[in-house]
Amino acid sequence: MPETAGTRPLLLLGPLLRHVDPVSATVWVETDRPCDVTVLDRRARTFCVNGHHYALVVVEGLEPGTSTPYEVHLDSHQVWPQPHSSFPPSRIRTAGRPGAFRLAFGSCRFATPTTVDVRDAIPPDALDCYARSVAEQPEDQWPDALVLLGDQVYADEITPATREWMASRRDLSQPPGPQAADFEEYTRLYMESWSDPQVRWLMSTIPSSMVFDDHEMIDDWNTSAAWRAEVTSTDWWRRRICGGLVSYWVYQHLGNLSPAELAENETWQAIQGSDSQDAGPMLDAMARAADVEPHTVRWSYVRHWGPTRLIMVDSRAGRVLEEDDRKILDDEEFEWVEAAVRNAVSDGVDHLLIGTSLPWLLPHSVHDLERWNETLSVRHAGKPLGRLAEKIRQAADLEHWAAFGQSFERLGRLLVDLGRGELGRPPATALVLSGDVHHAYAAELVRPGALDTRVHQLTVSPLHNSAPHAIEIGFTVGWSRWARALTGALRTLARVPHSTLQWRKQAGPFFGNELGELVLDGRDARFLLWAAGRDDDGRQQFTQVLDTRLS
Ligand SMILES: [Fe+2]
Repeated sequence: MPETAGTRPLLLLGPLLRHVDPVSATVWVETDRPCDVTVLDRRARTFCVNGHHYALVVVEGLEPGTSTPYEVHLDSHQVWPQPHSSFPPSRIRTAGRPGAFRLAFGSCRFATPTTVDVRDAIPPDALDCYARSVAEQPEDQWPDALVLLGDQVYADEITPATREWMASRRDLSQPPGPQAADFEEYTRLYMESWSDPQVRWLMSTIPSSMVFDDHEMIDDWNTSAAWRAEVTSTDWWRRRICGGLVSYWVYQHLGNLSPAELAENETWQAIQGSDSQDAGPMLDAMARAADVEPHTVRWSYVRHWGPTRLIMVDSRAGRVLEEDDRKILDDEEFEWVEAAVRNAVSDGVDHLLIGTSLPWLLPHSVHDLERWNETLSVRHAGKPLGRLAEKIRQAADLEHWAAFGQSFERLGRLLVDLGRGELGRPPATALVLSGDVHHAYAAELVRPGALDTRVHQLTVSPLHNSAPHAIEIGFTVGWSRWARALTGALRTLARVPHSTLQWRKQAGPFFGNELGELVLDGRDARFLLWAAGRDDDGRQQFTQVLDTRLS
């Protein structure tokens, strides 16, 4: 008999396998009502947020390097795996297995393919294709980790069905129009993005680490003080940002934390002790504080994977936007990043990964333009030229690390110190993983001087979206010598401070829906790039377009 509402609790979304270490794992679910959620005999009670129900089951006491199939039970009824699933059983594969560490990464996934407007002509979804290809491989070749670098949902680009649903609950001619307005609308975006069978299976089996970019909240989120002054003066911003940050906390951030971090997280502990009260108001207060006083919440975190370490950096929410002191993250958070890098070195890691949704090393001309624009904006703040620079900044999305010059240099100094061995034994590689720009490329730092660590920028985006023609042209031309000469002249004219950092393009740009893989084996590192497309008969294809050595 099929289950119907009213008889048994239903699993609405998940399970998502999130934090996994040698002895523990966390499993996240959304259910349709309060219930007990059981995974491998470990039980958690659901918590409630604005009438929605979630649980995070902490499964401890596992053996290192093991692989254990699991089921999810709600009030003792099995709800996962789904009946007749064609996928292998979902597994918890604890850290500590011998052999290469394989990590998949990408960003920018606009809804599930079946929900998007066919007129958008979006190519096949790289994450769906990847899930299918992983499911067909023997388990010992499955990736150890999945890293999602932002735009996991798009609050400001919606599908036709979501638009219709929004129109049934409010007047879309009033701001914010056909964009997510509150937590309820965000829950629909996550449902739409994470419920297709391929992605659902992949995320039930491969531990994931995530960070937001702008579209989880709004296009160009926190690009400048002027941008912020304008958006925060609207009457819809507060509900929007609270909905965005609360849903991010529930759907993404909670699973980024280890059991030890959960035990110290005041918000999580307050929810655990709230005796089934709706946590919505408390999370709203957290989100409100995070928006106006960013230092109150640290979204950045660290993942320990034996000889590989991921430092995931929030490059959106914690910015300092005063025009004469712009920083992509504030001093306190940058000191936290520096300490995390020093810890990684003293733990003797072979590969240091810095996750930041926004690329650090860009095509040279794009970098120059961002540096030029910031210099003019600062120098002429409040004057006509400054206002013009601000208009260009917002229109052309000049908002990456290069648009925050002092942060760009500070990360450079940190990685150069690392590569010179000034922090201890240098790792073989330092890899900056990014997304956002709707194409893929690899670049390597070549100056100043010889480093014992090879420092790369690896940018992979989108998993499921499209790139406007202007992006294709701009980011292709942006690497050319003549464009560099042109923007170099602009930089000189504006007397932009000189940088000692120099880099070269290694591969790309690649356009289309793509997913990157790292294969880290001892001190060796390889970067693979996969593209989703169609063959002549219209069948989906997932092809490898790059395999390059990084170490
Ligand atoms: Fe995107």
